[in-house]
Amino acid sequence: MRRLIVPRAGKPEVLQLETVADLQPAAGEVRVRVRAAGLNFADVMARQGLYPDAPPFPTCLGYEFAGEVDALGAGVEASWLGRRVFGLSRFNAQAEQVCVPLAQVFAMPATLDFAQAAAIPVNYLTAWQLLVVMGSLQADETVLIHNIGGGVGLAALQIAKQRGARVLGTASGGKHAALKAMGVDGLIDYRQGPWEPELAKLTEGRGVELIIDPIGGSHLKRSLKALRSTGRVGTFGISAATQSGAWGKLKLLGTVLGMPWLHPVGLMEHNRGAFGVNMGHLWHETAKVRIWMQALLDGVEAGWLKPHVHAQFALDEAAQAHQCLEQRQNLGKVVLLP
Ligand SMILES: NC(=O)c1ccc[n+]([C@@H]2O[C@H](COP(=O)([O-])OP(=O)(O)OC[C@H]3O[C@@H](n4cnc5c(N)ncnc54)[C@H](OP(=O)(O)O)[C@@H]3O)[C@@H](O)[C@H]2O)c1
Repeated sequence: MRRLIVPRAGKPEVLQLETVADLQPAAGEVRVRVRAAGLNFADVMARQGLYPDAPPFPTCLGYEFAGEVDALGAGVEASWLGRRVFGLSRFNAQAEQVCVPLAQVFAMPATLDFAQAAAIPVNYLTAWQLLVVMGSLQADETVLIHNIGGGVGLAALQIAKQRGARVLGTASGGKHAALKAMGVDGLIDYRQGPWEPELAKLTEGRGVELIIDPIGGSHLKRSLKALRSTGRVGTFGISAATQSGAWGKLKLLGTVLGMPWLHPVGLMEHNRGAFGVNMGHLWHETAKVRIWMQALLDGVEAGWLKPHVHAQFALDEAAQAHQCLEQRQNLGKVVLLP
């Protein structure tokens, strides 16, 4: 079977395909013939050598997949064979085959195609954890979603709207018309100048009750300051550190050092909360994650959850797929088709 390999840190051109022997599922695992694998910003940062959780090079990345079960490990019920499934994988999903424990696999809704199903796990579970589980977003509240045009951003938009909240977002200006049509209540082009004055106008100076911030570094300090009393900020990324080439590690260090130091007394004084989300550190909590996924699958059935696939690339076009995210072209999800 063929898989996408990152042989070493570098620009998108370093990506290669390699052919390896077919995988054999271990006890309790299924093997999935992958038809679509999600591409995430974490994959871009891993390729740049800036993602601490990535396995050592050379490595096959990929946190999520959709496809058909084509082999079963010992102890797995025969009825799984041939089923259309999607789910989470601890890397290795950007390949023609992936083996995963059954606990990380979900039956695919009949209304979705493989690319749409592969667009769900990372983006929607992250957004659900940020907005619902830890952010506790209420119908009478306003949320600011940074990079609302990205994969997590659009997932968060749909979830926040479903909860009845007012949704504001930052994104590159070229994405605003499409985002407005998707129901965003107020948009800020954060690349044309600081977003805070625009946010103040949109909230009559009050700020918002929830901000989700994937940019990190000193940007997180700005998000904290923009909270209304009782506001919460969810930090879940360090996009500010993204950089191909020799200066990448230095930029990463600067970004991490720029993060705010939070003192509980300060949070208490201002009636604020701060929390962090890392889906890649929840492999021991699959029972919890399955409950969240069930709520999302209910959303697919009810019709409010509609994965937006921006572009699909063959595995041997993976460099273009990485460029699409890196150059901020995507509106929603980028998917690889092995
Ligand atoms: N902690 C977790 O569990 C978790 C899970 C998923 C994702 N994340 C994080 O969430 C963020 C979004 O991930 P995603 O997969 O949904 O990616 P994405 O948002 O679909 O794609 C990247 C988008 O981010 C924006 N962006 C902001 N700063 C950027 C920069 N320096 N270079 C390039 N693009 C930049 C761009 O949109 P605009 O400039 O137009 O806004 C770009 O289109 C990333 O930081 C990722 O690491 C964290």
